[in-house]
Amino acid sequence: MNRKQLIDTYIAFFKEKGHAVIHSAPLIPEHDPTVLFTTAGMHPLVPFLMGQKHPLGKRLVNVQKCIRTQDIDEVGDETHTTFFEMLGNWSLGDYFKKDAIAWSWEFLTSKHWLGLDPKRLAVSCFAGDDDAPRDDDAANVWMSLGVPKERIAYLLKSDNWWGPAGSTGPCGPDTEMFYWAPNDDHAPKKFDPKDTRWVEIWNDVFMQYNKTNGGKYEPLAHKNVDTGLGVERVTMVLQGKTNIFEIEELKNILTKVAEITNTQPTPENIRSFRIIVDHMRAATFILGDERGVAPSNVDQGYVLRRYIRRSLRHLRLLGMDLSKMNACEEIAKVVIELFQADYPILHDRRTFIIEELRREEEKFQRTLDKGLKEFDRIAKLGKIDAQQAFLLYQSYGFPIEVIQELAQEKRMRVDVEAFQKEYEKHQELSRRGAEQHFKGGLADASDATVKLHTATHLLGEALRRVLKNPSIRQKGSNITTERLRYDFNFDRKLTAEEIRGVEAEVNKHIKEHLDVQRHEMTLHEALHSGAQSEFGTRYPDQVSVYTVGSFSKEICGGPHVANTKELGRFKILKEEAVSAGVRRIKATLEAAS
Ligand code: SER
Repeated sequence: MNRKQLIDTYIAFFKEKGHAVIHSAPLIPEHDPTVLFTTAGMHPLVPFLMGQKHPLGKRLVNVQKCIRTQDIDEVGDETHTTFFEMLGNWSLGDYFKKDAIAWSWEFLTSKHWLGLDPKRLAVSCFAGDDDAPRDDDAANVWMSLGVPKERIAYLLKSDNWWGPAGSTGPCGPDTEMFYWAPNDDHAPKKFDPKDTRWVEIWNDVFMQYNKTNGGKYEPLAHKNVDTGLGVERVTMVLQGKTNIFEIEELKNILTKVAEITNTQPTPENIRSFRIIVDHMRAATFILGDERGVAPSNVDQGYVLRRYIRRSLRHLRLLGMDLSKMNACEEIAKVVIELFQADYPILHDRRTFIIEELRREEEKFQRTLDKGLKEFDRIAKLGKIDAQQAFLLYQSYGFPIEVIQELAQEKRMRVDVEAFQKEYEKHQELSRRGAEQHFKGGLADASDATVKLHTATHLLGEALRRVLKNPSIRQKGSNITTERLRYDFNFDRKLTAEEIRGVEAEVNKHIKEHLDVQRHEMTLHEALHSGAQSEFGTRYPDQVSVYTVGSFSKEICGGPHVANTKELGRFKILKEEAVSAGVRRIKATLEAAS
């Protein structure tokens, strides 16, 4: 069974169990300031896990594109990538442990489905602590299905607990499934979770607690299931391979890297190959996302830049002469080719992906060689201090990971914390942004962001009315706890008077205390009723539409405030160009005076 067949089989299995199929959400989240990227299928579902009704019901299934930059140091081994696809099934207050576990087991072991050998499977359950008891319920279900006691490990929160997505909110114990990866029949009787030959393939999370502001774990009335199965890892297992870079898609990318570098993989250089394969796949998907961004020095754009630059450094390490060819572009073309059938947005954004990669590569190539010489010069002096590391960053565009790697190769160390301090002294850039992304939870932030989200709908409609241009549509939006950012199609700068007019229009409707309501309907009905939609978004067949009084009507997943009186005073901070024909407004809400 290959990747595609695995995805189709999983979806078919859960459809049979009454699940509705939802689309993969964008990699770059729209209304969630707590993360830079979608890290799991549950992330875009947080409002529904918190109790909002999902238009497609209580049982959902999908395949989701994910990025976990926190795994970056692991990339290079047999089983880790930062970009991966995750299959997931969800119960929103519907079935719980018994069904979730029984279905996981059936899907993995039944001859009608994956038919994996139960003798090569093991599981872990939550061991219990002061906050919550040991998850005997889950363990008992496993045993009732025939999993022997010795194959069940009990682990603490660090291993067997998921969530909350932020610092408060729904969370709970999970149970993870492992497969004995070596191609032998010698899976030990006893499961040792520290033995990396047992590869984690699937995680069933049981959201049965709500972590409160005071750090307490209260039982949730609305209990959810959130599962995540790693597509690459399970494909590897199904194909009897022992590392994920041998499955067709990753192997094809790796082969391209071998071809353009004219170098074959060896145990000494394999890490470079794997880093390039992972990073270039991630970079292609970030550029080719529904909410794709270009390389920059902030937020997602900066992660993208680091992916590309680190790949270029490793390409050079493999002996490639970067002046001969636009290497990133060649690799990206393979990625697009492999994944565009499942992610048509990659095809739609092909020109953008290739142009941006070319531009970034040319930019970095101009300084890479000089920077490497400078690094050698500094290294000869015997140590690399934070100022020198910062110079390599500032003058030659070297990301900190590249500087660290170069240092490691010379058996030297860079003080990353000191570098960070140096960096912060010089830049204000993404500081606020980055802190905001990693601190504070969705639940904490949700009040502020929900208000700004409703304000976004008012802003869109106010623009159409004040600029007398009904064809204005959203081309992207991003909300933090402090401000909203709204991109739209319009071909010139707004005058000061127009900006004041738009502000006044939004504030007028805030003062009217309009009710916000949600209606469920088919996509066809929604579009027919004149509901606004976002450019370039592929909507499911069944959608929810939010109306604000009789003023605005938009297809949207929510969440929103109940009434505009909650919003305060709307203020535009900035109006600027993003690209030809696209403008951007940043705005905020202030306490009403
Ligand atoms: N959220 C859980 C995970 O990512 C299950 O999907 O492992």
